[in-house]
Amino acid sequence: MSLVNRICLVAALLMAGLLVACAGNSVQPAASIPRPSAPPLPTLDAQQVLLGARVYRDNCAACHGADGEGQPDWKVPGPDGVYPAPPHDASGHTWHHGDGLLYQIINEGGASLNVPDFKSNMPAFGSTLNDSDIQAVIEYLKSTWPEQERQTQWLASQNDRLPAPGQ
Ligand code: HEC
Repeated sequence: MSLVNRICLVAALLMAGLLVACAGNSVQPAASIPRPSAPPLPTLDAQQVLLGARVYRDNCAACHGADGEGQPDWKVPGPDGVYPAPPHDASGHTWHHGDGLLYQIINEGGASLNVPDFKSNMPAFGSTLNDSDIQAVIEYLKSTWPEQERQTQWLASQNDRLPAPGQ
């Protein structure tokens, strides 16, 4: 599902919640508006986060920045039409993507998204990193997000899981 579709879906679910609240013909306090639900946010695996931090430092930091701050002017393509590396922190949109999509982008590279007329500079790491490294680096990225971004990403992951082992 594209980012725009995801945002629309979340917006639609929130609207549906509002309608249900209004149909009850009473003014509901905001806190009682039903929200799209997900199981409670899981605790991150400290070992994986440590491994992921190493994987990140060795493979990703050169482009995405030591602290995930991204490259300057990352929203503006260079003269070759290629975009700089975006941040992974709350100011970027890595946290908008579910686990499955994050895995795909890291494993198969940005080109795997098949965006027309888009030349991606995000390499495919499938031949240099194994499954556990990729999962660990995703776990590490999660450890850098504030609670709200983690919640959003956890919600997006409900229908977009990591591939099962061996796939
Ligand atoms: C050579 C520079 C480079 C390296 C190294 C690199 N990336 Fe990227 N990455 C990019 C660029 C550029 C993009 C922006 C999208 C595009 O151009 O395809 C990107 C996009 C992404 C995205 C999608 C972000 C979004 O907002 O949708 C993720 C996730 C990501 N990279 C993770 C990683 C991880 C994890 C590593 C290390 C294992 C890594 N990248 C290493 C350049 C790089």
